[in-house]
Amino acid sequence: MISKETIDKVFETARVEEVIGDFVQLKKSGSNYKGLSPFSDERTPSFMVSPVKQIWKDFSSGKGGNAVAFLMEHEHFTYPEAIKYLAKKYNIEVDETEQTDEQKEAANERESLYLVSEYARDYYHSTLLKSEQGKAIGGTYFKERGFTEETVKKFELGYNPDQWDAFTSEALRKGYKLEFLQKTGLSIVKEERQFDRFKGRVMFPIHSMSGRVLGFGGRILDSSKKAAKYLNSPESDIYHKSKVLYGIYYAKKAIAKEDNCFLVEGYTDVIQMYQTGIENVVSSSGTALTPEQIRLINRLTKNITVLFDGDAAGQRAAIRGIDLILEQGMNVKVCSFPEGEDPDSFSRKHSQEEIRSYFSENAKDFIQYKANLLVEEAAGDPVKKAGTVRDMVESISKIPDTIKREIYIQECSRIMEISEDVLYNTLAQIFNKNKKEAGKKSKPSSSEPFTVVPNELASSVEKVDVLYELEKKLIEALLLYGNVEEEFEDLVLKETEEGVLELEPIVQKAKVFEKIYLDLQDDEVAFTNNLFKSLYSKIINHLHKENELKIKNLVNELDPEESSEISNIVLNDEKYLLHRWETKEVYVKQKDKSVAQLVTETVLSLRKYLITQKIEELSQQTKESTSNKDILLDILDYQSLNTLLGTKLGRVLSV
Ligand code: CTP
Ligand code: MN
Repeated sequence: MISKETIDKVFETARVEEVIGDFVQLKKSGSNYKGLSPFSDERTPSFMVSPVKQIWKDFSSGKGGNAVAFLMEHEHFTYPEAIKYLAKKYNIEVDETEQTDEQKEAANERESLYLVSEYARDYYHSTLLKSEQGKAIGGTYFKERGFTEETVKKFELGYNPDQWDAFTSEALRKGYKLEFLQKTGLSIVKEERQFDRFKGRVMFPIHSMSGRVLGFGGRILDSSKKAAKYLNSPESDIYHKSKVLYGIYYAKKAIAKEDNCFLVEGYTDVIQMYQTGIENVVSSSGTALTPEQIRLINRLTKNITVLFDGDAAGQRAAIRGIDLILEQGMNVKVCSFPEGEDPDSFSRKHSQEEIRSYFSENAKDFIQYKANLLVEEAAGDPVKKAGTVRDMVESISKIPDTIKREIYIQECSRIMEISEDVLYNTLAQIFNKNKKEAGKKSKPSSSEPFTVVPNELASSVEKVDVLYELEKKLIEALLLYGNVEEEFEDLVLKETEEGVLELEPIVQKAKVFEKIYLDLQDDEVAFTNNLFKSLYSKIINHLHKENELKIKNLVNELDPEESSEISNIVLNDEKYLLHRWETKEVYVKQKDKSVAQLVTETVLSLRKYLITQKIEELSQQTKESTSNKDILLDILDYQSLNTLLGTKLGRVLSV
């Protein structure tokens, strides 16, 4: 663990414009810098760095944040990696605290799983290189496969001894807990006894994009045994096999540089190709390709070349992957190998140059590839031809870009000798069919990080958005005007001379952040969106402490995701500067119209919204329970509060 002092020092020293300047050419523009977005291909700069606020914002991709967030985005670093990088750049000594037993316990569960996995990697690796059995059995195996020692070290390959619990007992002795050994699947617990999952196998550690060990693949050595050839780590809190690609950590730089990614099927395919010098290669490791895996590649390049075995199973797997890749707007090429060869065996027999020229001669665009299959399968069979044409148009329909779709329709028309009109008709049919199907099942977006009220899925989508917008508006108000003093009008109950209670307007001076804080405290409102919730408390604390909002200081207390959100809000106005939009004035004026009004309106809307929700919830309870007198009283209370808030809101809105 990197010490807090080191992290603080790094944040104090690092200058966002210097850090980014190493990767992006920045030009001074007013008080900011601007440049071409490193995250997209663009001609006019939409990337902006603010030295005063120490944040950056990329308007083409929507990304933004502080220096650390930039390194995590651009270099795919983890947080600690980014800190270490900055420390090196600024000659700051990294003070790493050795973990004591207590700290080990305190580290959160995921971290424990990572630590156990990293320990296992080291154990397997040193067993392979140093133990007699490891060298004799595992070492010999890898040598026979043609892996050099350098490759074995690079990929951190290993060996698990052929004993029931060699690894497990050693890990326990070292103080790693059985709980985590079990949760990562490295050990199997049965009736009080523990066994190694990977007994007698050679080990392939599976890394995340940033190089952390998530899990393992273990290959059996003796092919006569009935056990599965490869055994993989089970799903755990850190290992989700649908979201990882074997080799991505080693390949990411080359993928970005060559602007292409080779996709293969197995561990050994990746390693063998890498060893010949083709480093931009990853594998889905035996599972069907998933959208998440494609997204990992999409961060690095738009181009994928799918490589697969010459056999029928390999072809089917490749075809299934193609549409998924097209759907994400990527370009797919397909390349098959001669009968009986896979990337592993082919790479062993050929030099890098030979392999590259084989690819350039044989890699086909997906449309050509599908057409070729037809020629082989359905020569002279018109029914089959029709099926394949439809199949090709199905694939084309997945392409999000209209122009690209058109080009492919033309290509398809040429290869298949079918008129473009017919193909466009088919395309239209497919779109219509998809639209109807999409209408039938309304899909709730599962990735939304908000609490969704169950039982009300249909209406909740709308609700979630209202809450999100209101919470966001409050964060915006805090960031932009938190420290501004304003006159707020409020209604309070007063007794008139005749002894009647009446609502009377009063005006109070307060700072925006105080107003928001006190009003929300009134009904103990908590933010539902986790990001906004933690931002809220950090901003309020900051303002309480400093009595002035310095974005530059604030961003250093935030994690990358939070700093990104802040950049979004704070630098949004700058976008108008960047593009010298004439409308800029209008925009700003409207926003500055009345801060007090904006704040009051938002706070009241949020409170009213939450109270209405509470009332609904309670009404639901009265239907389900028999003794509901207390609940009814609560409802009455909330209803009168709701009416009061409604009156206040009506006043603000009518001003
Ligand atoms: N695989 C698996 N479980 C199996 C078989 C295969 O998880 N029982 C996965 C592995 O990731 C493997 C990939 O599918 O790397 C491809 O399988 P295969 O072609 O059979 O393996 P190879 O990589 O060719 O393995 P080897 O050359 O070691 O026989
Ligand atoms: Mn193989």
